[in-house]
Parts: sequence; C-alpha cells; structure tokens
Amino acid sequence: MNDIYSTKPFIQTKEYKRFVEFAQSCMEYKYIGICYGNPGVGKTFSAHEFTHPEVFDYYEYNIDFNVPLPQKVKNNFHKCNGVFMTVPVCNTPKIIKHIVYSKTLNYGNAALRIKDERDLRVLVMEAPKQCPLLIVDEADRLNYNALEELRALFDEYQFGLILMGMPGIEKRLSRYAQLYSRIGFLHEFKSITKDEMMFLFEQKWKKLGHQFKANVYLDVEAMNEIIKITHGNFRLIYRIFDQIERIMKINNLQSINKELVEAARNCLVIGDFL
Ligand SMILES: Nc1ncnc2c1ncn2[C@@H]1O[C@H](COP(=O)(O)OP(=O)(O)OP(=O)(O)O)[C@@H](O)[C@H]1O
Ligand SMILES: [Mg+2]
Repeated sequence: MNDIYSTKPFIQTKEYKRFVEFAQSCMEYKYIGICYGNPGVGKTFSAHEFTHPEVFDYYEYNIDFNVPLPQKVKNNFHKCNGVFMTVPVCNTPKIIKHIVYSKTLNYGNAALRIKDERDLRVLVMEAPKQCPLLIVDEADRLNYNALEELRALFDEYQFGLILMGMPGIEKRLSRYAQLYSRIGFLHEFKSITKDEMMFLFEQKWKKLGHQFKANVYLDVEAMNEIIKITHGNFRLIYRIFDQIERIMKINNLQSINKELVEAARNCLVIGDFL
C-alpha cells in the first residue's frame, strides 16, 4: 500500500509545524515553494496530513450529487487545505495537466457539496481556481516540458504551488530561470529531534510490551544506539522497530538491549543519505 494512505497514526512533530507554516505562506502569497528532504523524513506523510487527499479522492468515483455524502467526508473536509498529487514515473505535459484538472475538480466538487450548491457546470470550468494550494510530490520526476506545463497552470490559475522532492531539486530548478523567478520559499524538511525521538521510542517500547525507564542503564544504552543508527529518520525508526519486534518474537526475548538493537540493525539496508 502507498505510504500516503497509511493508517499509521500521525505524530505532530516540530517539522510538521514548520511545514504547515511554509505551506500556508505559499498559499497566502501565491508563490511557488520548494520542499526538499532526505528519503523517509516524512515529507509525503506530512503533505498528506495537511491536505487529506483521501477525502476528496472520494469524488473520483462518486460524482452523483443525489447520493448522500458519507459523514466521514463531511467531517474531514475542513482538514483539506489543498490538493495533493504525485507525479507519475512516466509523465508528459498532457498527463500533468490532466491530473491537476481532475484533482482540483475533485476538490472543487467536495467544496461545492459541502456548501450544498449544485452548479457543476460552472465548477468544471472554474475547478483549478477553487484550489488554494497544489502540492506536487516526487517533483524530481518532472522533465522540462512537464515543469513548463505546471508553470503555465500556476500562471493561469494563481494557486499556491509546492514542489516536493529530494535534496538537489532546488539546484536543478535554478537552471530554469522563468520558473525559478516565481519561487518564493525554499524549505528543508529535516529529521525529527532527539527529544521527539525519545517521545516516539517510549510509545514504541510500550507497543512491544515494555516500559522504558530513563534510570535503567540498559534501556538508555539501547535507545542511544537507535538514535545513532536512525538519525531521526522516520522510515528507519519504523523499520528498526519492526526488526526488533521480529527478533524478539523468534528468540522469545523479553527485554530490549544494545545487542538486540545491533542485531536488528544488521538486518537493515541503510543507504548513505543520512
Ligand atoms: N509525522 C509522522 N508521524 C508518524 N509517522 C510518520 C510521520 N512522518 C513519517 N512517518 C512514517 O515514516 C514513513 C516515511 O515517511 P514519508 O513517506 O512521508 O517519507 P518521505 O520523506 O516522503 O520519503 P521519500 O522521499 O522516500 O518519498 C511513513 O510511511 C510513516 O510511517
Ligand atoms: Mg515521499
């Protein structure tokens, strides 16, 4: 399953707060913003939390205005702060334009239904104008022509636009002078802090049936080892705890210590991006 539709609970981190401030600025000033960060730090998950695409993606298949709106869609619509899209691996300007139109149309439909108005015809023509913010994930995949298409849509409809990708995307885009001159904000999405990791670890420890104790040396040693290995990278933290759980089950272990963490680490493939 795609990360974006994950059912894992979202943790409101400091990085998420910074991301919200950045996204709101892009929305308010109608600028293009670039958000870059290492793989697994939580860019997509945060953008998902900010836009809740699953709510208005409901409209992809349910355009019939006579069918009552599910309560979940009604309740969650106010959490949708914009439109989220992922750039497909194979993309052309035509594909990008089609996705932007259909996603913003879904958003517009949801907005309209919530307001309980019914003129779909106007909405189809105006859809991208209803959209306050468009977040484009995996923007590294966009080639020159597809970027130009996005710039044209941005110029025409004046929505806030965020391009999200890997570190280096900001340098690559600086080669396109016209696009770059529209960029108002650069935002680096960082890993979580040590304090946040401690908070997360206590929950994870509990899930494994243990109480983390800050005055027990073995607990602190194991935790420091996890901090050293993961550097606050969300995906790695989840993966190392999955391995810890697996090893504990196989070997019927009752406690978490440094040796167990090292064994779990040896099962992981960690790139040199940290
Ligand atoms: N704020 C959060 N609360 C809880 N879990 C999170 C949070 N942020 C990220 N995660 C977890 O970390 C995983 C990786 O996050 P995400 O897919 O957003 O990373 P990414 O920065 O988009 O990586 P990539 O560049 O590879 O796409 C998520 O599937 C989720 O399990
Ligand atoms: Mg991502």
